[in-house]
Amino acid sequence: MNETVVETKNLVKRYRDVVAVDNASLSIRSGEVFGLLGPNGAGKTTTILALLGLLPVDSGEIDLFGKRFTGRELALKGRIGVVPQELAIFEELTAEENLRFFGGLYGIRGRLLAERVDEALEIAGLTERRKKRPRTFSGGMKRRLNAAAGLIHRPELLIMDEPTVGIDPQSRNHILDVVRSLNAAGTTIIYTSHYMEEVSALCNTIAIMDHGRVIASGTEDDLVSIVERDERIVLSVSHVYPAVLEAMSKLPGVRECEQRDHRIELTAERGQVSLSRLIERANANGCEVTSANVERPSLESVFLTLTGRSLRD
Ligand SMILES: Nc1ncnc2c1ncn2[C@@H]1O[C@H](COP(=O)(O)OP(=O)(O)O)[C@@H](O)[C@H]1O
Ligand SMILES: [Mg+2]
Repeated sequence: MNETVVETKNLVKRYRDVVAVDNASLSIRSGEVFGLLGPNGAGKTTTILALLGLLPVDSGEIDLFGKRFTGRELALKGRIGVVPQELAIFEELTAEENLRFFGGLYGIRGRLLAERVDEALEIAGLTERRKKRPRTFSGGMKRRLNAAAGLIHRPELLIMDEPTVGIDPQSRNHILDVVRSLNAAGTTIIYTSHYMEEVSALCNTIAIMDHGRVIASGTEDDLVSIVERDERIVLSVSHVYPAVLEAMSKLPGVRECEQRDHRIELTAERGQVSLSRLIERANANGCEVTSANVERPSLESVFLTLTGRSLRD
């Protein structure tokens, strides 16, 4: 059983009459890429600021690395890195000077600092730009420098708050790769985003937030099974004979089976119907399958079912 790195119990944070975080309980284990998914205004950043001790909460408890955190324990804070949603880099310092500054804040000095700066520049893909100032950078490069600043001290837990908003696809992929390789090297990651696809691609465990509440959490499979028992399977075929449809609808797990042009569309119990069985049935009835596609319910449909709204604004 992996160590619990972050545990919050019934966290509440109000801004005047807005309840930004509403009884949020989260549990994040060592080695996870934990996704905090929710639309704008869900309370993700407020939750993160609370975990960093940057914002006093109204009630609830936070444990970090198995110890109670009241917002002041420096030894715990030092084990965390943060990549804030708003860029936190100095436009007038070079990339290298920025990283030296942030490394210095964590008490890293001398040769070790030089090594860590080199390492962080390399991870961010900015080694060649080390002497350049961020005001000459693209949005994506600034985001990558922002990320480098958060990992300069090799934190055990790295919290990234919407690190890919508004950047080019290349920088986005770079950042996603950084998350994967840091995690492979043992770093626990909290990845906050309103992009379902990124969270789905990166995270082992996901908490969906809305209006300050954690409305569901678990693996993607857990979440999807809360709302949907079915999956849709679409087969493109050469011809459709009535016998094919009949043979398929008799397979255990198949609920519905319809023909649309050169497609057979099935609704089936999730994970109960194998594509190879379906293709076999099609072939046995004289129709060739040119493509087969299983559409699993997505995190988007989980959110839609639980809230009645779309995750996309
Ligand atoms: N400093 C603040 N003062 C007042 N309201 C705030 C402040 N920061 C956030 N809020 C409100 O709290 C809610 C949660 O915001 P936030 O944590 O930034 O959400 P997210 O990061 O998921 O977009 C929103 O309704 C937002 O308007
Ligand atoms: Mg935010």
